[in-house]
Amino acid sequence: MTDGADHPQKAHFSGVFHRASETYDAVGVDFFAPLAARLVERADLLPGDAVLDLGAGRGAALFAAAEVVGPRGEVLGVDLAPGMVELTASDAMERGLTQVRVILGDADDPPSREGGWDAVVASFVLFFLPEPVATARRIREVLRPGGRFVLSTFDQPDERWRIVEAAVKPFWPDDPANEEPAHPASRSHFSSTSHVEALLHEAGYTDISTVLVEHENHYRNVDQWLDWTWSAGARVIWERVPESRRDDAVAAGLAAVSTLADDDGALVERFFVRLTRGVRR
Ligand SMILES: C[S@@+](CC[C@H](N)C(=O)[O-])C[C@H]1O[C@@H](n2cnc3c(N)ncnc32)[C@H](O)[C@@H]1O
Repeated sequence: MTDGADHPQKAHFSGVFHRASETYDAVGVDFFAPLAARLVERADLLPGDAVLDLGAGRGAALFAAAEVVGPRGEVLGVDLAPGMVELTASDAMERGLTQVRVILGDADDPPSREGGWDAVVASFVLFFLPEPVATARRIREVLRPGGRFVLSTFDQPDERWRIVEAAVKPFWPDDPANEEPAHPASRSHFSSTSHVEALLHEAGYTDISTVLVEHENHYRNVDQWLDWTWSAGARVIWERVPESRRDDAVAAGLAAVSTLADDDGALVERFFVRLTRGVRR
């Protein structure tokens, strides 16, 4: 396994998620855990199965899989961000989950297992990879025949919420990297369900299907929304702003978001998520 830190895009996201790891999925907004549980259901796991969780983060899919495969099973989590690996490994130990291991590594170089993995899970990860078709092909190689690859990806964002990026973007320095919208559904291969399914087809999978899920994030107020953005990949919208202008950018983002709040200050953001599955025949 490599740690991928030699690739600029990977090193960038490893840093983003390392900095997010302390509060990731822990600011009182239910997002990753429920959606990862739905994704894991799509893998049709059985007690005793062996599962590889790529980009395991704080274990949203990892712990759901560990529960299904039970103590006779095996779950290996891999992540490129050291903070994610350290904290999730320690959570697994605290929970006494002897079937779980978490290691630092690159999803582009997925660990193989004798006999192959019964399932590989990638919950909100594949769009961070520079060459996702090649990655999906390598994942297929470590599955056993009949093994399932399940992945979740973002569909297009809630239209009403596009005003946030529009408000913050003027604070991003002129840099080719900042021309790309921050939202993952803007990346090629991830702009629609048919693109994601074509990616899996090109990588050699069969029996490809997608379930589209709508999920609402409920924020008590704009401050909780702000905490949520810092706790997840969305923090890139702030990190793209030079530190000297960050307070102004945050003020502009909060002003934009305030226009979406209900009378009591609460906010609802809708997400459209694809849960896609392919099989190695
Ligand atoms: C959006 S988070 C999802 C975490 C978790 N799967 C979940 O659903 O909550 C993406 C995770 O992928 C990891 N990641 C990004 N690129 C990676 C790569 N090339 N190899 C391994 N992990 C990677 C990040 O460090 C981060 O923990």
